[in-house]
Amino acid sequence: MSVEFKNLIVKVEEAIGWIIINRPDKLNALNWQTIEELQAAFQAQAGNPEVRAVILTGSGEKAFMAGADIGELAELDANKGQRYARMGQNVTELIESFPKPVIAAINGFALGGGTEFAMACHVRIASSNAKMGQPEVKLGLIAGYGGTQRLARLVGKGRALELLLTGRMIDAQEAYRLGLVNAVVPAQDLLPTCVTLAKEMAANAPLALGYTIQAVKDGLDRPLAEALEIEAKYFGRACASEDSTEGTKAFLEKRKPNFRGR
Ligand code: COA
Repeated sequence: MSVEFKNLIVKVEEAIGWIIINRPDKLNALNWQTIEELQAAFQAQAGNPEVRAVILTGSGEKAFMAGADIGELAELDANKGQRYARMGQNVTELIESFPKPVIAAINGFALGGGTEFAMACHVRIASSNAKMGQPEVKLGLIAGYGGTQRLARLVGKGRALELLLTGRMIDAQEAYRLGLVNAVVPAQDLLPTCVTLAKEMAANAPLALGYTIQAVKDGLDRPLAEALEIEAKYFGRACASEDSTEGTKAFLEKRKPNFRGR
């Protein structure tokens, strides 16, 4: 199956949904239309039962996403700017709450919105030529697609503020050292590594994957006691699923489970 978008390539192959930003001449910079298309593409893949995991990447060999489109940023006033940030935030929220695993395959520059969209994904794998950072302050702006919040949560406040206040670009190894990416692989291994990882996740029970994502997300910013209640709630839901009956039965019968996402 393949759906037509102007700035995206979207396809499904062997249970993996691919969402590929396709503006290589602009280093996959995120203009408004691309953000709207990303929203539509993620919504479509959420509702597509064939898709069990998603890989988000950029086309070409140079960039994942070189950030928001600076041509559009140049036109913003206070109101439009707030709307622009909210739109990007909504789509990063959609990704972070996505009920199936989303893997960012960071194949080059991931700057500004690129780092922000990568941070909204559940797992980040970088190619060795990746460069990340939040350079907004160099433009007189601030990170507006969740960067001031997710970066601090992911790498800690001190390291986040250093990156946000210098606007410095860091290489893949540095991103790994900070915990900003899960792994760094040679460029030619990036997509195969992400496919292997996506398939490993996709082989698990779909509802359990969704509940895990939601429990981690809902609980993370709450006191532990409240967060544990959230975990117990999702655990109970998982227990009520046909897949948990199948998964536990298959273990006891020493066979592979056949999960149906019910
Ligand atoms: N918005 C709009 N266009 C962008 C862009 C962005 N964020 N990033 C790159 N482009 C465009 C360039 O304007 C150029 O277009 P042109 O060929 O029509 O002039 C094209 O993409 C190639 O970029 P170029 O700058 O020539 O490539 P480079 O290899 O010399 O440099 C970068 C690569 C990523 C270092 C540089 O493009 C850059 O700094 N981009 C902006 C990054 C940024 O600040 N992002 C955050 C925005 S909030």
